[in-house]
Amino acid sequence: MAEVVIVENAAAAGELVAAEIVELIDRRADAVLGLATGSTPLPVYQALRTRLAGRDVSQVRGFALDEYVGLDPAHAESYRSVITRDVVEPLGLDPRRIHVPNGAAETIQHAGDDYETAIEVAGGVDLQILGIGTDGHIGFNEPGSSFASRTRVKTLTEQTREDNARFFDSIDDVPRHCITQGLGTILRARHLVLLAFGEGKAQAVADAVEGPLAAILPGSAIQLHPHATVVVDEAAASRLKLADYYRYTFANKPAWQGI
Ligand code: F6R
Repeated sequence: MAEVVIVENAAAAGELVAAEIVELIDRRADAVLGLATGSTPLPVYQALRTRLAGRDVSQVRGFALDEYVGLDPAHAESYRSVITRDVVEPLGLDPRRIHVPNGAAETIQHAGDDYETAIEVAGGVDLQILGIGTDGHIGFNEPGSSFASRTRVKTLTEQTREDNARFFDSIDDVPRHCITQGLGTILRARHLVLLAFGEGKAQAVADAVEGPLAAILPGSAIQLHPHATVVVDEAAASRLKLADYYRYTFANKPAWQGI
């Protein structure tokens, strides 16, 4: 089962996960990070600004989870732009080492395979940061996605388009298609760290951590992973049946273990 860590707030989650990432980079200068976009990982990227300041991060590599199809990469809300703005520039990473799936319509037929190859050539992802959608998606693997899926084009649910409309002028501007790492791709990362904050994510978190393994609950795929950590605030943890046990386990965790 995933290890669940219930923290006071998003900032505390950011510090906890950033500390783990710094430790990873100290162990391995060319660590491969799996990067999520959206609001959830921002406290991690924020905490990394301070924790990585003055360190050599020139070798660090990264792979984003997903990208919209057909959105100009120069658009402010393309995930290429978001990753550049929120991660590459503030952390001083080498942009040539940070990959985002190619959502260009002309090459979309082989963009998924190309991305899988690039991840494989890099030796796989060391630590994958994940958010979770209110409909339970991880990456953009909407309900019904195969647990064995690889990077490919998916159709966004109306719920996801509504959730993401806040980043665009109007919901009509939110693309209908995306290219996303598959659940099978995500499961090959060596460590999964899923974050979620707020009441709106409580059901998705409960389904992912304690629900049955089911394609209709894509987040439940994390139960198949040998090293998955779920970091949530109290509101996002509010529907977890075993919340007290998770608190007890974390409070009694050996200090050497990390997350
Ligand atoms: C983003 C991604 C998505 C988001 C999810 C939650 O790269 O793959 O799974 O993590 O939609 O979005 P926020 O964090 O904005 O609530």
